[in-house]
Amino acid sequence: ERLAAFAHKLVTWYEQNKRALPWRETSDPYRILVSETMLQQTRVETVVPYYHRFLERFPDVESLARAPEEDVMKLWQGLGYYRRARNLQRAAMAVVEQHAGEFPRAVDEVRALPGVGPYTSGAVMSIAFDRPVAAVDGNVLRVMSRYLGIDQPIDQLPVKREITEHVQHAIEQSVPQSFTQALMELGAMVCTPRKPQCLACPIQDDCTAFAEATVDSIPVKLPK
Ligand code: ADE
Repeated sequence: ERLAAFAHKLVTWYEQNKRALPWRETSDPYRILVSETMLQQTRVETVVPYYHRFLERFPDVESLARAPEEDVMKLWQGLGYYRRARNLQRAAMAVVEQHAGEFPRAVDEVRALPGVGPYTSGAVMSIAFDRPVAAVDGNVLRVMSRYLGIDQPIDQLPVKREITEHVQHAIEQSVPQSFTQALMELGAMVCTPRKPQCLACPIQDDCTAFAEATVDSIPVKLPK
């Protein structure tokens, strides 16, 4: 079936081509939450040194929960979008106060943590707990809109919903931890916004946009 084959080719490619990134050495949900929060609006190369410094100073949920807010902000200095740091500390406090310091494993409880939306909860559930929950960010919307040949604006909720359904279906037939990271890695390294490397793509033979020569016009975005 199409999405099962898609997931299999994607994950096989990922295992052979993935970059060695520090958050790929762990399945600690706290560390995955820190990395995914930092990566939300910031590039990988920028995040790496911040990730190391942050986790050296705050190695676990307890240390972050009880830190003075200004210490947290100081380590975030330069990353921008400071509300992310505030929410990350509030999430750590919620884990300590509402979950006795044990990171929750239920998707609804993860989703209820401050600052954690559908993307971040999907990333934590799949990457840390290897549970099949779709994580759909801008990279994933780009890869999937090309693969599926969706020429409707990806900013529209019904389009996002349709793509999320396909990602959810695919992850359920795959290894969730690898699948989520594989989709992001493809978006970062091959299926890039401009000049995508279609000749190096593991799913080129089944990509609708490639077959129809519409890779350069998909994804479509609403005018701002
Ligand atoms: N961007 C968002 N999440 C990522 C991850 N886990 N690895 C690389 N880039 C990402």
